Amino acid sequence: MTTIQDKRSFAPAGDTSLAQFPIARPRRLRLSAGIRRLARETTLSVTDFIYPLFVRYGKDERRPIGSMSGQYQWSVDRLPDEIGKIVALGIPAVMLFGVPATKDATGSGNYDPEGVVPQAIRAIKAAAPEMVVISDMCFCEYTDHGHCGIINTPDAPHYTPRLPEGYVMNDLTLELLARASVTHAEAGADIIAPSGMMDGMVGAIRAGLNASGFEYVAILSYAAKYASGFYGPFREAAESPPQFGDRSQYQMDPANRREALREVALDVAEGADMLMVKPALPYLDVLSAVRQAYDLPLAAYQVSGEYAMLMAAAANGWLDLRRCALESLIGIKRAGADMILTYFAKDAAAWLAKGV
Ligand code: PBG
Repeated sequence: MTTIQDKRSFAPAGDTSLAQFPIARPRRLRLSAGIRRLARETTLSVTDFIYPLFVRYGKDERRPIGSMSGQYQWSVDRLPDEIGKIVALGIPAVMLFGVPATKDATGSGNYDPEGVVPQAIRAIKAAAPEMVVISDMCFCEYTDHGHCGIINTPDAPHYTPRLPEGYVMNDLTLELLARASVTHAEAGADIIAPSGMMDGMVGAIRAGLNASGFEYVAILSYAAKYASGFYGPFREAAESPPQFGDRSQYQMDPANRREALREVALDVAEGADMLMVKPALPYLDVLSAVRQAYDLPLAAYQVSGEYAMLMAAAANGWLDLRRCALESLIGIKRAGADMILTYFAKDAAAWLAKGV
């Protein structure tokens, strides 16, 4: 017969100061919903959420995104109504992605003051001045080749023979990122969020904003952004797949964790106000490591593929959507995120308001 004394020997080493069974019974704190609530270590709140929005040209458009059911591309004229709903749910911030009418080699739609995102920012700020507007700052939606920066091609005026052909020209892209950031700040963006993984992007944008009098506009850096297959549905949503190659020349190798800390360190030194790890679920260890090493506000992006796989499984009746979405979100919080970019923001806000 096993005695209680025998069971004590299963106490994990190092925990000898803790009470052991049968004095210790962790199940006491799980007995009722009330006790579980008291003992809960992490909470999810609507104020944690940032809702990504796709904005496009056109009139009275609400185009469903096939691979992301429940998500749409909105024409600017329909934004005030949609923003009203987002405000009513208590969601404090949106992240904007632009789907321009035309694309070109240098992504000029990104720094055109009449571009779709500046128009959207003005429409949102007019409808809801308190809504925090974050502008995703990248060129992939605006370039005809779909890369996140300017490409070195022999036929282009910016061709530089010293650089490899097909290379995403880092430093030229920085100049244009700074210019586009000023354009979005002029339109009223509260936060600029560079997502292209160009070296020096945070410093270049900070300098550009400061030089134009926008020292008060914050930078949320996509500091550790991985070359991920989970962006697949987004590329349909933003109409931005690369026309050749992939993004592994500039986005991070999924195998690397130490490199993420180095990327973050560089962005902090360049003046990032907030940091992001992206995607979320496959990179919770990275999120946790960044949380432990830095005090800046930390965001995680639950990306399009993370959303799409939960939606697809739920549509088949294989997973309970509400449970699994909230479980994913609390896991992201527990790993160290202060805020979460999520396509579930509206649903989760409604679920939380109902107290589930
Ligand atoms: C733009 C950008 C992407 C995402 C956010 N900003 C796409 C990419 O890098 O290919 C992905 C977001 C998502 O998948 O939800 N660079």
